[in-house]
Amino acid sequence: MEQKKLRSQNWFGRKGKDGFIYRAWMKNQGIPPDMLEGKPVIGICNTWSELTPCNGHFRELAEAVKKGVLEAGGFPVEFPVMSLGETLVKPTAMLYRNLVSMDVEESIRANPLDGVVLLCGCDKTTPSLIMGACSVNLPTLVISGGPMLKGHWKGKDIGTSDVWRFDAASKLGEITSEEFLEAEACMARTQGHCAVMGTASTMAVMVESLGLSLPNNAAIPAADARRKVLSQLSGRRIVEMVRQQVVLSDILGRPAFENAIRVNAALGGSTNFVIHLLAIAGRIGVELCLDDFDVLSRGIPLLANIQPSGQHYMEDLYYAGGLPALLREMQTLLHTGAMTVNGRTIGQNIAQAEVYNRGIIGTLQEPFKPESGIVVVRGNLAPDGAVIKPSAASPHLLKHAGKAVVFENIEDYHLRVDDPDLVIDKDSVLVLKNVGPRGYPGMAEVGNMTLPKKILEQGVSDMIRISDGRMSGTGFGTVVLHVSPEAAAGGPLALVRNGDTIRLDAHQGLLQLEVSDAELADRRASWQPTEKIQPRGYVYLYQHHVEQAHLGADMDFLKGGSGSQVSRDSH
Ligand code: FES
Repeated sequence: MEQKKLRSQNWFGRKGKDGFIYRAWMKNQGIPPDMLEGKPVIGICNTWSELTPCNGHFRELAEAVKKGVLEAGGFPVEFPVMSLGETLVKPTAMLYRNLVSMDVEESIRANPLDGVVLLCGCDKTTPSLIMGACSVNLPTLVISGGPMLKGHWKGKDIGTSDVWRFDAASKLGEITSEEFLEAEACMARTQGHCAVMGTASTMAVMVESLGLSLPNNAAIPAADARRKVLSQLSGRRIVEMVRQQVVLSDILGRPAFENAIRVNAALGGSTNFVIHLLAIAGRIGVELCLDDFDVLSRGIPLLANIQPSGQHYMEDLYYAGGLPALLREMQTLLHTGAMTVNGRTIGQNIAQAEVYNRGIIGTLQEPFKPESGIVVVRGNLAPDGAVIKPSAASPHLLKHAGKAVVFENIEDYHLRVDDPDLVIDKDSVLVLKNVGPRGYPGMAEVGNMTLPKKILEQGVSDMIRISDGRMSGTGFGTVVLHVSPEAAAGGPLALVRNGDTIRLDAHQGLLQLEVSDAELADRRASWQPTEKIQPRGYVYLYQHHVEQAHLGADMDFLKGGSGSQVSRDSH
């Protein structure tokens, strides 16, 4: 096969002054000349940061990737991009997902790279890197950082989903502040991302089921030496991908997206998956809409007994056979002919996979829950849709009508939620406005509001909660999220008042505000936007261009890609 000229040779293969400049400054890092003479140059896009603790071990992973690249005859170059630590970044990491995707896209396109390895871990570091890379479309392979080992506290296994339980217990005085502190140290005790099927693990599963990683990427714990082996093998493989010119769009066809949606359903993955997959599809040019999630995941049962939909942790999934074993259980529902980055199909990759623990990986005949996946609900309260995750909800609330208790924004919620005079009972429906993409801005993970203390004291652990925001993938409850259009964009959510009746029927896909059209028209006539538009900087750009949740909350001008060509290229 005729070898195509490497993209990097447009820099390093130049004669004259330009070539001198491109090579000479690289050599100040101690690079032998032959590295620049026609070896595939592999960029290792690293989201390591001490402010992103889930990705704190990524320098080690990058070293393993480099070994693999060198072994396969490539030249590895590591570069940083903005890193988003879910726990620290304010007002919410999601505000910056699109900014990081721009950083990644332009960093890849602007530099002499032939292929890219994306090091992804904490929630937003995965979609942002894949979105950016899709807009360039070079040979690309993804490595996830891997989950933490599960925590142990007072004889019990604990993980991120327990944070919500600890919060409720502390509100009720069931645990002391000393115990609260002690639990912190016991939970996050090793490197890696959240140990449950939160958004980071959901993203790692998405990566593997899209075919963007080597098999087993999703579940090998961060602390397990096999994570480094996977990284080294990925380094070897990306060099071959460059030689074979396998680009992202060769992997990311519609079948890959359909596989990812079905697998997410079977694992009880995060609702954030919806927003991120829509945004990725928009970058690579695959038609995908909100209803696809409903249609494709309907009827898929829960096959993974992992929190928050189940009981166990990501490391347990790995010991039980890992994602390949689970995929094999549901292979009749997958496009097994979909190609993956290792040059084999998904079907070939899972052919020998075995389940070692039926308490962790179920079968289609004997699942852990009959209903899983993401259900899309619509109605006059969410004309463009909203989502709910039935596997994390209370079955008796999936069909329910109750009186709205409205919070105008998150500050209003914090101010009044524990007010003893708040008029509320266990059948009420909590409504939170102005936490959507434009309104917050950045679509915060506040949709699974902690219940009012006086409700918790009655022994009630779940109520319907509705918002235009998101929920942590580690969260749970009967929580309707991503209401679109959002309140700040003038969606009907903005018109809800205390005492209105709201009807949810997740089985029928319905979310209805039981208020007449005439009354809603009156309310709309007097509605004033409360959104504060930032006067400058990235947030200004974001608020003017971010799309609504049902479209993936990408910025309108970032859809599609610009490819890997650089238009002007001389000094
Ligand atoms: Fe980083 Fe959960 S906080 S993955």
